[in-house]
Amino acid sequence: MRIDAISIFPSYFDVLEVSLLGKARLAGLIDVRVHDLRDWTHDRHRTVDDTPYGGGAGMVMKPEPWGEALDAIATDSESRPVFIFPSPAGEVFTQAKARELATAEHLVFGCGRYEGIDERVFDYAAELGEVRLMSIGDYVLNGGEVAVMAMIEAIGRLIPGVVGNPESLVEESHEDGLLEYPSYTKPSLWRGREVPPVLLSGNHGAVDTWRRDQQVIRTRERRPDLLAD
Ligand code: ADE
Repeated sequence: MRIDAISIFPSYFDVLEVSLLGKARLAGLIDVRVHDLRDWTHDRHRTVDDTPYGGGAGMVMKPEPWGEALDAIATDSESRPVFIFPSPAGEVFTQAKARELATAEHLVFGCGRYEGIDERVFDYAAELGEVRLMSIGDYVLNGGEVAVMAMIEAIGRLIPGVVGNPESLVEESHEDGLLEYPSYTKPSLWRGREVPPVLLSGNHGAVDTWRRDQQVIRTRERRPDLLAD
């Protein structure tokens, strides 16, 4: 999979060099390219924002650098890219959407800052590929970079070969619409706290039943909205 990220703070993405995703890049499983939006400006100050038409607080990202950035990346693509713009006003990014996006050949993340990107950019991007505005939750970040990092990690680990043991992807929170069951390791007694005896019983059927029950109990307590879905 190819992933491009466009940002005015490209160093946010430096951490993609470490951990599992760093290894996946080295192994050639993911081709990540990070771009500085200001490389597509042409004035001395490398301006990327301007005041909003109609007035109001804050600044809006100008369309011209975005247009050139999207053109350059789309021209250089072997497929029709999926453009993802992180936004608190977007559709909510979920595990199901991570799974869907993990099958794409080419994802392009466009990180907005300030009050957002001139709306015409999304319309233009739709001529070059599929456009998705995506929120990672109902709260507001200073810009899209941290949201994009979260999405790249969630999507990247679903690409075959990135996570060493694919079984660990199956038994996770959200994979089957429920939260994950609790986990324990040695010692069996720690600071007066015991591991649930069923886990020491060696009875695999009983362990499976207990884990499933725990998933339902936890989901009902912590995330009743998931059960309703
Ligand atoms: N940009 C600012 N807040 C965001 C959020 N919650 N999700 C995605 N992008 C954002």
